[in-house]
Amino acid sequence: MFVDSHCHLDDEKLKGDLDNVVAEFKAAGVGIVIDIGCDANTSEIVKTQAENYDGVYFAAGIHPMDVKDAANSDLDRIKELAKHPKCVAVGEIGLDYYWDTTFKEKQKEFFVKQIDLAYNLNLPINIHIRDAMGDAVEILKANADKLKFGGVMHCYSGSAETAKELIKLGLYISFGGTLTFKNARKTQEVAKLVPIDRILTETDSPYLAPEPKRGTVNSPKNIPLVVKKLSELRGESPQEIETAVYNNTLKLFKKINV
Ligand code: NI
Repeated sequence: MFVDSHCHLDDEKLKGDLDNVVAEFKAAGVGIVIDIGCDANTSEIVKTQAENYDGVYFAAGIHPMDVKDAANSDLDRIKELAKHPKCVAVGEIGLDYYWDTTFKEKQKEFFVKQIDLAYNLNLPINIHIRDAMGDAVEILKANADKLKFGGVMHCYSGSAETAKELIKLGLYISFGGTLTFKNARKTQEVAKLVPIDRILTETDSPYLAPEPKRGTVNSPKNIPLVVKKLSELRGESPQEIETAVYNNTLKLFKKINV
């Protein structure tokens, strides 16, 4: 059974056709999908989607870009949502300095607050970091005692050195469509080095469709293409990768029951 540990089924490009999207990924052998919230409102939507479909779980959290307009009352809503039986993680949370650096301090504050929230609810975290790896590693190390329930670096694009530090902190490394891109040599090198018991797979649908579907609307049905690329890079069979990712998923996201 394949796993998509990070997608956005609430996106306009997918939500109108959800019965079909779900039927397609199930037909492709994808049996576990984690639908990710980016603020309190989208976390409510992914909760409802998870309630409506078997095999679909969700994460509730405030994305670093959405922190800009977020208030503490939004964190209270996330906390309530996170108690839902199908909420398997707090996320996506983290730091993103790519688009806007005017509220870095607020991003850091909400990242730490949500790490805390996850810890208090015995949940792992789903981490989004873009152009902010230095600050992110610093925060994660400073909060290492709050990472007891683990976490995953979504769509990892950092260095091999940093990946090793993150693995030491108990985190998993997730690979998606970008791994298949021609210019992804650095990420491909990382994919060769990560121990097999720390790898996860994702699509980040509807974004970042893997080759040879790059540029199309991505959906969880494309997970086998990510597994195929991991297999080529690592020299393990696709079946071996599929089984390892499945086991890793159940180990990290303890609220998933299959
Ligand atoms: Ni995402």
